[in-house]
Amino acid sequence: MAKKLWGGRFQTGMHPLLEAYSESISYDRELACVDIRGSRAHAKMLRKVGLLQAKDLAAINKGLTSIAEAIRKGSFTYDPADEDIHMAIEKALIRRIGEPGRKLHTARSRNDQVATDLRLWCREAIDGLDSKIKSLQQALLKTSQKHKDLIMPGYTHLQRAQPILLPQHLLAYIEMLGRDRERLADARKRVNHLPLGSCALAGTTLKIDREFVQKELGFEGLCENSMDAISDRDFCVEVVSAIALLMAHLSRFSEDVILWASAEWGLVKLADEWSTGSSIMPQKRNPDLLELTRGKTGRVYGDLVALLTLLKGLPMTYNRDLQEDKPQVFDAVRTALAATETLAAFMPTLKFNRKAATALLQDGYLEATALAEYLVEKGLPFRRAHETSGQIVRLAEKQSCRLAELPLAQMQKVSELIKQDIYKSLDSANVVGIYKSAGAAGGKEVRKALEKWQKRLQK
Ligand code: ARG
Repeated sequence: MAKKLWGGRFQTGMHPLLEAYSESISYDRELACVDIRGSRAHAKMLRKVGLLQAKDLAAINKGLTSIAEAIRKGSFTYDPADEDIHMAIEKALIRRIGEPGRKLHTARSRNDQVATDLRLWCREAIDGLDSKIKSLQQALLKTSQKHKDLIMPGYTHLQRAQPILLPQHLLAYIEMLGRDRERLADARKRVNHLPLGSCALAGTTLKIDREFVQKELGFEGLCENSMDAISDRDFCVEVVSAIALLMAHLSRFSEDVILWASAEWGLVKLADEWSTGSSIMPQKRNPDLLELTRGKTGRVYGDLVALLTLLKGLPMTYNRDLQEDKPQVFDAVRTALAATETLAAFMPTLKFNRKAATALLQDGYLEATALAEYLVEKGLPFRRAHETSGQIVRLAEKQSCRLAELPLAQMQKVSELIKQDIYKSLDSANVVGIYKSAGAAGGKEVRKALEKWQKRLQK
């Protein structure tokens, strides 16, 4: 039972079971780099305010550089007896440089240290994730441009509803991902405040300079209340919640592609390298990538709920429960990074089958709404137009034909407002061309949206 850095008042070491139970170094080693960055800034500030001598600062920096090097090379030993990454690095520093290493923890507690580390880590994670989401948007945009004029059914209630252009469907996801990026950017503003200098909970009697550390670490401001600074993890909840929504979007997209790839739809074919086989059915091409994305989404929701639950009963201020925040944050970020990166790589290989899309448009009377709107343009109140269009659908149903195959005379028996030009509203290709409202699923609107995103995603 080794003596701890905090072990001054104890006569025995920790029980091995408690030691194993309470360690976090097995996962918070993820924070090693940001922990060192925070320590460097802190030490520089201690020097500035005269709490550290120049030679101590030099020794600390040298020691931290050698630790960073060992971590990078994989030769650093993570010992569970050190509890967490903060202790491990401080101990390694003292081992390397001796006495000056014992000065680093002046005016600092692991409470403000870990909160700082986690904020630095989240800031980097947000930036990394933003660029991955953007790449996925670009991949979706490329596919949209490649299939600019592919017409397919749009669905409500999973029933064929109205004809749409494929780009509109993909652009919908580009919009969702755009909002996910906005949410992350918004969370970043609140992540980007510095807890360090709040010490254990009350601040310090020493004359430190928090603004200096803030600027050194690129934070936008200070956490302004020492007790709040070290005890809240609302910023983790915000980040993971933005990620949970991102995953919801990726999961919906996955579900769409899974349906499209089924023999029932036949709208897309997965490339060999993105399909998985069955161990018993030789003919299978399984969309595991997409199913896993859907499945992993559930795990990320779990991360969010775990974090929220972790916080709800905590008395002020720091409680060790908070150590349980990191696995969730790390898991959510890692999962989202992998999902966005993998889907972006997968997108260009997705093959769309135009024939299948055309075949899907044959049944389901997708032009019935356009037909009603045709009648509205001829002066019929919409409710009447709706009914008339319904009667014409029934006609077609009886003869097992498409709306466009109905002879003009038959339709005119239902409504004399119908003229030869009706056929312009009875073919999916025509219908998607005449959508006019802002944001509609065809016509000029889709072209405009493609141009808008082309410009936005160039930057
Ligand atoms: N490993 C701890 C955590 O993640 C660091 C802070 C420890 N603070 C303490 N007072 N024991 O929360």
